[in-house]
Amino acid sequence: MPTHGEPHGDNQVHTADGIRLVDWESLALASPERDYSRPSTVPGLDVPADLAMLELVGDRPVTELPLTASGARTPTAARSRTPHARAVDHRTRRMFESCPAHNPLIATTGRSLMTALLADKTAVITGGAQGIGLSIAELYLEHGANVVLGDLDEAAAQATANKLGDRARAVRCDVVDAAQVRNLIDTAVAEFGSLDVFVNNAGITRDATMRTMTEDDFDLVIQVHLKGTWNGTRLAAARMREQKSGAIVNISSLSGKVGMVGQTNYSAAKAGIVGLTKAAAKEMAHHGVRVNAIQPGLIRSAMTEAMPQKAWDQKMAEIPMQRPGEPQEVAGAALFYASSLSSYMTGTVAEVTGGRFM
Ligand SMILES: NC(=O)c1ccc[n+]([C@@H]2O[C@H](COP(=O)([O-])OP(=O)(O)OC[C@H]3O[C@@H](n4cnc5c(N)ncnc54)[C@H](O)[C@@H]3O)[C@@H](O)[C@H]2O)c1
Repeated sequence: MPTHGEPHGDNQVHTADGIRLVDWESLALASPERDYSRPSTVPGLDVPADLAMLELVGDRPVTELPLTASGARTPTAARSRTPHARAVDHRTRRMFESCPAHNPLIATTGRSLMTALLADKTAVITGGAQGIGLSIAELYLEHGANVVLGDLDEAAAQATANKLGDRARAVRCDVVDAAQVRNLIDTAVAEFGSLDVFVNNAGITRDATMRTMTEDDFDLVIQVHLKGTWNGTRLAAARMREQKSGAIVNISSLSGKVGMVGQTNYSAAKAGIVGLTKAAAKEMAHHGVRVNAIQPGLIRSAMTEAMPQKAWDQKMAEIPMQRPGEPQEVAGAALFYASSLSSYMTGTVAEVTGGRFM
């Protein structure tokens, strides 16, 4: 019978690529104040709870993942608190505290689980050259997907794809132009064989109060966000219905929920994306294609870096969690909607806002 304590031997395995895995019982032993004794299994995989393992990268737990071989672990009841186990206590608690804000998303997403979530899927991400789109691409890649970045800025998209590696491609695409979106989808299918996920993320702002906003700036923002998302949704859906599966993720904004001063164009477009998402979800549900939307709040990116300090401070004061979001935190929701974790969800809107305007 294996003993528990410092993770080694029966408690620990090294995968071929050097990932260190520690079983949940060691963790429960080390941190009895938390109930790690019955971790949830990975949704979509039929794995008994006591076979779930925790992936460590350095000292940081990043993934709960199944151990499919080697079988049974010591029952929880057989644990004893030895001095050695108490020494582990401190180390393991430190391990958990090193997870950003004990963020369960970050704490439970890692390479091995990723391969289970989007393995062999192909995802197209518009506006993927930088910012939130880039973070989505990175997370999808980590979860085993192939990614195709469609962006107006071809050079930036190509440079990003080169950095991301051989499962990434870049295509110049203005989402306003249906022919270019069609070409983006055709390229993804030609390169990787399918289209499983389409993220309508490309976006711009042209902020001004109504008194000063030009008609051109109103039209441009509506075109890029609303027509762009309509193009992406309808053309991706047409392809996905043939294979009777697919997930479309539309990036709206909190601005579309509450309306923001200086953003009559952007708020209208982002609210419109919610309506579009729900209508498309109803049309596509029986074809096996899900359509969902995300409303990010204040997220650190090039789009928000341009904001005057006063405006930034005002927004910060509205956030119950008292911090801006990171692009990776939007990517987490985009991964959820792209994967089978959200298999019974369509036409929904997820707010990634730190509680702002809840
Ligand atoms: N950053 C935030 O706080 C925030 C909040 C809510 C919603 N959003 C939304 O998230 C999405 C991504 O925003 P971000 O902050 O990463 O912005 P960003 O400016 O960093 O990136 C936007 C990307 O879209 C591309 N793009 C612009 N117009 C395009 C077009 N017509 N066709 C194809 N690509 C185009 C740009 O080249 C760029 O690579 C946008 O839809 C934005 O409205 C952002």
